[in-house]
Amino acid sequence: MEAILLVGGQGTRLRPLTLNTPKPLLPTAGVPFLAHQLARARSFGVRRIVFATSYRASMFAEAFGDGSAFGLSLEYMTEETPLGTGGAIRNAAQALTCGPDAPVLVLNGDILSGHDITEQVALHVSRGAALTLHLTEVDDPTRFGCVPTDEDGRVTAFLEKTPNPVTNRINAGCYVFTRSAIDAIPAGQVVSVERETFPGMIDAGELVLGYADRSYWLDVGTPAAFVQGSCDLVLGRMPSGALPGPCGEFLALPEARVSPRAKISGGTVVGPRAVVGADAVVRGSVLDADCVIESGATVAGSVVGAGARVSSGAVLRDAVIGDRAVIGAGNELLAGARVWPGVTLPPRAVRFSSDV
Ligand code: GDD
Ligand code: MG
Repeated sequence: MEAILLVGGQGTRLRPLTLNTPKPLLPTAGVPFLAHQLARARSFGVRRIVFATSYRASMFAEAFGDGSAFGLSLEYMTEETPLGTGGAIRNAAQALTCGPDAPVLVLNGDILSGHDITEQVALHVSRGAALTLHLTEVDDPTRFGCVPTDEDGRVTAFLEKTPNPVTNRINAGCYVFTRSAIDAIPAGQVVSVERETFPGMIDAGELVLGYADRSYWLDVGTPAAFVQGSCDLVLGRMPSGALPGPCGEFLALPEARVSPRAKISGGTVVGPRAVVGADAVVRGSVLDADCVIESGATVAGSVVGAGARVSSGAVLRDAVIGDRAVIGAGNELLAGARVWPGVTLPPRAVRFSSDV
């Protein structure tokens, strides 16, 4: 089966991490995020994937090449200016080889999902649907596409980011399209599948189905979710065939130097050549390549960018530190604080508690 992978978004909510690296390529549990999705798609029989790229397009081919290292054949289609999710799917479809009746898998590029893709495709094919959406349940559906269904699993409406959701069931960002339904999307223009294509198909009476399940699911589009996803992969809560090796409470990548007196837990990744000093406490965090966590620093639920330094006695909790930034001693950064790449926060006289 062929698939289209949507990876053209700017990853705005993940800045500054995405200033230079597209969201789907951010190092996650030791490999680019997409490596987990590629391994998963392959395990369900996908062999050819067309990447729908736009933002920093060339970086995808540099990371994954022709796909042979993953047992896949990869193609890259690039939009000069972003065409939205629907325009991107239509544009990428030019590189598909299948016929009009074949099922085509379409994946958002920022999702970790444990669902059974084979079952989703089987439902689509057996009911002769035009489109079958994977659905999951979340506590706050307002940030997603809200998708009510009838008792036969038929989708009755698609309400993208509505302030008044009628159900907690949402679009989980993995679709099976019958190829001809993709070809019906207008070419060469900006189209949103969520706001135009899906509601249009439902209104036109086409058979749009929901495949609902309760397996692991996460959209890694925010810093908190990105950290959560990385930790869940390391801890094995979300199984992945792309992990670089066995993991325990944390994953130390090649040439990482972790003091035996450091306390590291919660699925933390210690990036290549990163250093964690004595009595540092690191919980549920992502430490990128070459960063330094000095002795006695505390880092929880945070991302520390490549080459950044967190000085002794500094405290990070739910913070994002850009590449090469320096957090001076005594600084306390909490609840969504972000430091841009290369910025230096001078040491502070007051020393905060390292109790997290
Ligand atoms: N090629 C291309 N071009 N890709 C794009 C474009 C574009 O213009 N715009 C967005 N994408 C890609 C993003 O890279 C991402 O992989 C995917 O499309 C979805 O975009 P997001 O920006 O992550 O959307 P969202 O998370 O707010 O909402 C979407 O996902 C939710 C599930 O996580 C919607 O599909 C919701 O309905 C859904 O519930
Ligand atoms: Mg998203």
